[in-house]
Amino acid sequence: MAVGTKDFLWGAASAAFQVEGAWRADGKGLSNWDVWTNDDKVTLPLTGKVETGNVAINAYDRTQYLADIALMQQLGLDCYRFSIAWSRVLPEGTGAVNPAGIAHYQRFCDDLIAAGIEPVVTLFHWDLPQALEEQGGWHRRESVDWYRGYARVVREALGARVSKYITFNEPFIDLMLFRPMIAAIKSGGTVTEAMMARQGLALHHWMMASAMTIGDFRAAGFDGTIGLALPLMPTLNARGTDEDAAAAERADAIINRWCLDAMFKGRYPEAVMRIIGGLDPAFRIAEEDFAVLAANRPDFLGVNFYAPTYVEHDASAPFGFRWHDTNPDPAPQAFNGPVRPEYLTALLERIRDDYGNPPVYITENGAGFGEGDEVFRDGIVADPLRADYIERHVEAALEARARGVDLRGYMVWSLFDNFEWLWGYGRRFGIVHVDFETQKRTPKESFAAYRRLIARGAGGG
Ligand code: NOJ
Repeated sequence: MAVGTKDFLWGAASAAFQVEGAWRADGKGLSNWDVWTNDDKVTLPLTGKVETGNVAINAYDRTQYLADIALMQQLGLDCYRFSIAWSRVLPEGTGAVNPAGIAHYQRFCDDLIAAGIEPVVTLFHWDLPQALEEQGGWHRRESVDWYRGYARVVREALGARVSKYITFNEPFIDLMLFRPMIAAIKSGGTVTEAMMARQGLALHHWMMASAMTIGDFRAAGFDGTIGLALPLMPTLNARGTDEDAAAAERADAIINRWCLDAMFKGRYPEAVMRIIGGLDPAFRIAEEDFAVLAANRPDFLGVNFYAPTYVEHDASAPFGFRWHDTNPDPAPQAFNGPVRPEYLTALLERIRDDYGNPPVYITENGAGFGEGDEVFRDGIVADPLRADYIERHVEAALEARARGVDLRGYMVWSLFDNFEWLWGYGRRFGIVHVDFETQKRTPKESFAAYRRLIARGAGGG
């Protein structure tokens, strides 16, 4: 079947900074992550090591990535989701275009398509050109136009090669979790409510940049589809108390509904307006901005699902709740939370019911479990927990599809082990093992498990 014509896509996802390496190759500019990991010589919290994305898994290298594409074919992938490094395309963020950066992504898309694999392009997955970071980054309203300019350059360069774009990956995690954590690491302090509230305006700028870019693409005659990928996690009452129930409700508004409502209702939840607006006087959203959100509804929702999250009331924590560091669940624990696939089905049904059943792709789902959970055996890596996680989540997703959710695809995170942000190379999510010294790739048991699921198809059973 020709690329782009199937009604359910099996895929895998990645992001530029986590896989590409080649951080200064062929005219690339520096990103905030390049600078943070190299210049500040930060010790990453989990590994206790200084680690960078300078080499990563060498995915910028054509010889390497052609071998990687061959593995994708072996797996039976229909699509591959990857992100573009803004600083490769526009080294200073705006202004002069870097022809070698453009040529790289054109060639990469051509190579995928030649292998029968559809490129799904994420325009922004957290690596901002440092030149823009230094001008105030996402706190500046001008960032909306910086981003629109960059998106236009990519759209014009990739042309007919790409018919699915994701404007932004996980607004909440980058802006409300990682950036405050990085600020705290830099200052030697802790994450404060004021830090997080200040990020609210940056999140608004992402949503405006996304909506306006969707409008720009349509106005330019783009005939593919364009959406956003959100980190969605059911928020659960940790101790069964009324206070925790209220905290879980607040967490849901901030973590999930903020962006969902923006995308499909053209507004922010009242709780977000009250909480963020009450803390940051700069967070005053003009009605015209909401009109822009409402007028540029995305074509699809990308769901990044890993686990539900337990929420506890804590008056001293930002917004009065704690979430990612509390977990009373008896289920097996993956890096990103308890293994509870039934919450994926529930989440997808909620999107169907509360947001008008939009087309949905699972743009990320996967797991890592830590030391001892992967064992080399007879030329493969045995990772039964990851294989089981993927099987159960695919089943949960297909169950939602059978119940009428407009689910169009599933992309595993990730094809290869890679640089897991604040946790560096210490957290492996790949279904293919990577030796970070030699770049040798070794399929894991979960690769074979996913291959079987793909071969069986979306009909399930
Ligand atoms: C979400 C992010 O989009 C991705 O970059 C990250 O590596 C995975 N989740 C795994 O935590």
